[in-house]
Amino acid sequence: MPWLKVSSSLAAIGGGVVFARRIAVVGSGYVGLTTGACLASLGHRVICADVDPEKVERLSAGQVSILEPGLSELVAEGLAAGRLEFVLGASKAVLDAEVVFMCVPTPMGVGGAADLMAVESVISEVRDLLPVGCVVVNKSTVPVGTAERVHKLLNRPDIAVVSNPEFLREGSAVHDFLNPDRIVVGSSAQDAAERVAALYARLGAPTVLTDAPSAELVKYAANCFLAMKLSYVNAIAELSERLGANVADVTEGIGYDRRIGQAFLQPGPGWGGSCLPKDTHALIQAADAVEFDFMLLRATIDTNTRQRQRIVTKIREACGGSLAGVRLGLLGLTFKAGTDDLRDSPALAVAELLREEGAELTAYDPGVAGAVPGTTDTVRVVGDAYEVARGAAGLVLLTEWPEFRTLDWARVASLLEGRIVVDTRNHLDPDVLRRAGLGWRGVGMQPVD
Ligand code: UGA
Repeated sequence: MPWLKVSSSLAAIGGGVVFARRIAVVGSGYVGLTTGACLASLGHRVICADVDPEKVERLSAGQVSILEPGLSELVAEGLAAGRLEFVLGASKAVLDAEVVFMCVPTPMGVGGAADLMAVESVISEVRDLLPVGCVVVNKSTVPVGTAERVHKLLNRPDIAVVSNPEFLREGSAVHDFLNPDRIVVGSSAQDAAERVAALYARLGAPTVLTDAPSAELVKYAANCFLAMKLSYVNAIAELSERLGANVADVTEGIGYDRRIGQAFLQPGPGWGGSCLPKDTHALIQAADAVEFDFMLLRATIDTNTRQRQRIVTKIREACGGSLAGVRLGLLGLTFKAGTDDLRDSPALAVAELLREEGAELTAYDPGVAGAVPGTTDTVRVVGDAYEVARGAAGLVLLTEWPEFRTLDWARVASLLEGRIVVDTRNHLDPDVLRRAGLGWRGVGMQPVD
C-alpha cells in the first residue's frame, strides 16, 4: 500500500532544521551542474562527476560553458567555499556520499521511449561502491517504474531509491531551482524520501511526498500539460485569424481566470527544445505499453507538427504564393530566447520546410555563432540582424530575443528589398514596423500594413 503525504512546506520536514549533507551528483550537464551548484549554495557538500575529462577540468577551473544566468557565479562560489568539487567518473564521487543524484541524459530511444543506457551503466559502475544506507535519487526524467528498476539493478537492500524530478527551464534553471513552485519526492521508503526533501528545506517550497511511480509521472504529466496548453493556444490562434479575433486579447481574457493562468499562453511556431518533444513522445509510448490510447496527447503532438506547416503557409502567402528562389531573412534559430540550444528547435524545422520550397535563407541568432552543424545547406548564418535584412524579400522572426524589438526598423526597411515581416512569436510592435513602412504578419492576429 503506497503511503502519501502532502506537506505545505518543507520546513515541516525535520522541523525546519537544515543538515548539510554529503552529496554526489552523477552527470555534470545542464541538470546535474545546476543541481550540484545550487545544492552547494544551500550549504551542502557536493561532488559532481562527469565522464568527460575536459569538462571536469574546465569546471574545476570555474569555467561554465552552458549559457545559464547565475550558474557561473554559483560554481565559482561553491569552488571557493570548498563545498563544490568536480571529479572524473561516478565511482570517485560516490565513495563518501549520503545522497547520490543521478543526472545523466535520458534521450529519446527507439519508438519514443526514454533510453536508460546511461542510468544503467552508472548503476553497474557504482553498485558495489555506494556507502551503506545511502540514498540514490533519480533527478533525470525517467519512465514510470525506473525507481523500482534501479532498486532491482542495485540489488542492495540497504539502499533506497527516490524519484525527485527537476522542473528547470533552460535560461532560468538557477532561478527555478532556488525558487521552486514545488518539490516532488517519491519513494517506497518514507524515511529516504524525507531525507531528500529535507535537502531543500531552506527553500520553503510546497512539497509533495508520494510513492515513486507518482513522482515519476508528475514530471511527464507536467511537461505534457504544458505542451497541450501551447498546442491549444496555437489552435486558438489559427481560429482567431479565421474568425477575425485577436489572440493576444483572447489569451489575456482567459488567463485572468486563475484556473487557467497567464503563463504559457504565447502562440508561436510550435513548441520544441530538449524536453517537451521528448517527454510527450515518451508518455505516448508509456500509455501504449499499457494499452491506453492517449488521444489528447497525440493530438497535441500533431497540432504542433501542423503549426510549423501553418507558419510556412503564412510566409508563402505573405510572399505572394511561392517561395521558389525567394530570399528570406530569419531572426532567431534557438528553440526559445535566452539559450544557445538548437535541439528540436521549431525555428530550424520551419527553416527546413522553407528550404524545401526553394527559399534562400540567411539567419541571425544572438545565441548562435557561426554555422549550425547539419544545416549548412539550409541556412547561412550571419553576424547581425541588419545583414539578414540586406536584399531579402521578407523577414521571419522565429525566436523571441528581446533585442529584436529594439532594432532600428527604419534601417531594416532600407536594407530589405520587400516589406513584409512575419512575426511568428507576436514579439514585435506592429506600429513601430508600420511607421518604418513595413507590413506585419503575426500569429492569431490581424495583419497590419
Ligand atoms: C521545459 C519545462 O518548462 C520545464 O518546467 C521542465 O523542467 C523542462 O522542460 C525539462 O523537462 O527539463 P524548457 O524545455 O527549458 O523547459 O522550455 P520551455 O520554457 O518550457 O519552452 C518550451 C517550448 O515552448 C519552447 O519552444 C518555447 O518557445 C515554447 N513556448 C513556451 C511557447 O511557444 N509559448 C509559451 O508561452 C511558452
